[in-house]
Amino acid sequence: MRLTRCQAALAAAITLNLLVLFYFSWLQHQPRNSRARSPRRASTTGPRVTVLVREFEAFDNAVPELVDSFLQQDPAQPVVVVADTLPYPPLALPRVPNVRLVLLQPALDRPAAASRPETYVATEFVALMPDGARTESPGQLERMVEALRAGGTRLVAAPIATANPARCLALNVSLREWTAHYAPAPAMPRCDALDGDAVVLLRTRDFFNLSAPLARPLGSSLFLQTALRGWSVQLLALPFSAARQPPLATAHARWKAEREGRTRRAALLHALGIRLVSWAGGRLEWFGCGKESTRCFGTVVGDTPSYLYEGRWTPPCCLRALRETARYVVGVLEAAGVRYWLEGGSLLGAARHGDIIPWDYDVDLGIYLEDVGNCEQLRGAEAGSVVDERGFVWEKAVEGDFFRVQYSETNHLHVDLWPFYPRNGVMTKDTWLDHRQDVEFPEHFLQPLVPLPFAGFVAQAPNNYRRFLELKFGPGVIENPEYPNPALLSLTGG
Ligand SMILES: *[C@@H]1O[C@H](CO)[C@@H](O)[C@H](O)[C@H]1NC(C)=O
Ligand SMILES: *[C@@H]1O[C@H](CO)[C@@H](O)[C@H](O)[C@H]1NC(C)=O
Repeated sequence: MRLTRCQAALAAAITLNLLVLFYFSWLQHQPRNSRARSPRRASTTGPRVTVLVREFEAFDNAVPELVDSFLQQDPAQPVVVVADTLPYPPLALPRVPNVRLVLLQPALDRPAAASRPETYVATEFVALMPDGARTESPGQLERMVEALRAGGTRLVAAPIATANPARCLALNVSLREWTAHYAPAPAMPRCDALDGDAVVLLRTRDFFNLSAPLARPLGSSLFLQTALRGWSVQLLALPFSAARQPPLATAHARWKAEREGRTRRAALLHALGIRLVSWAGGRLEWFGCGKESTRCFGTVVGDTPSYLYEGRWTPPCCLRALRETARYVVGVLEAAGVRYWLEGGSLLGAARHGDIIPWDYDVDLGIYLEDVGNCEQLRGAEAGSVVDERGFVWEKAVEGDFFRVQYSETNHLHVDLWPFYPRNGVMTKDTWLDHRQDVEFPEHFLQPLVPLPFAGFVAQAPNNYRRFLELKFGPGVIENPEYPNPALLSLTGG
């Protein structure tokens, strides 16, 4: 077959078109990072940092001023402003392709990637820029990049020249204990966390690899996550300017922002599983677990509370409420002349370290059955449930012949009271639960009872409690801590 010249030209044109099409399609499918590293980008001094603005109030902010100040230094500066929902009143952002507003709330008419800010960050670094900052000298972000590359930290920060510039803090986060401990940092300028206004710069891949990179308040959230990973932050002496028209200038706006900040912070700590924050000097902040809130773990199945499966111990607020309930119940029993003693896991905790075992979920006391009538609350509980004047609930347990005192009507953290009676020198009872420690024992352990520190007060305990415990749980039980049901879940991970 012979081609005419025209046919040949047409075929060539089609082939060329196809090649061009394939080339562009190939470009489109390159991963973002390799595109960012394309020669055009790397050979020029194009921006290596995206300015990410997350911390601002929609109702009163200086975000447009912040964005303008960066565009004045470099019109190509990428800026991503992140909000949960469309800010109202609307943000007056410049209409240029390198400034984007990203909404985290998924919308029916947008693909999922549209609500993920990492979709819009193509640079190697991000600078987390709080509202109220502006830049006035060129190359501030570049200097932070150089400091990050030179220093041994994953994060660098620069203070903002506001009334509340950044300060260095030490921070220990324990997921197992649900706690965050802050203290002034011993080794400036390397810190675990910052307090006050700062710009923080880190690698984009580190930032978006955090568990909740964009959770607010960004400062609290960021450093809880980085401190847990052992990443420190270096505080540089490269201050950013404060906005000329600072946000939240009126008392009302500040009041509103503080109120919303507190709500956000409580929600954040709840979501990240921090229930107790402590500060140098002993100030404590508790989250969750009041008389009005429900118990922060569900019905315990197989003696193994849900938090143990999450690799965590009893939330500190629950331990506190258990201590309070135990101390109160013991006070009522002593005042009424009811003989009681620490039982089971509670005695074990007292013997080990004078407190509730850090993963225990209730408190157990033994009582003399014949003394029950001495105590008004227990008499009441025999007939039905009694809410006493302090809000504790006394009732007969549904599981068997014992009493239960709940922290409140809503919060079912509890102390169990197990009535025993002597028969031929042996303490016994009529209902038994299927627990190893739920066995008869010689009455001489109770003659006499001995004082033992427990949960912040002094409780009565069986004499010779080491032998008592070994009789109930087996030899070596004090020295070898174990979860309540090692067959389901073991402390040693076995
Ligand atoms: C963090 O833990 C270390 C080691 O246990 C301790 O020396 C330091 O004081 C703790 N810091 C804070 C702020 O609690
Ligand atoms: C993200 O974090 C995980 C550990 O949390 C780590 O194994 C992984 O290498 C990190 N990925 C990047 C890209 O840094």
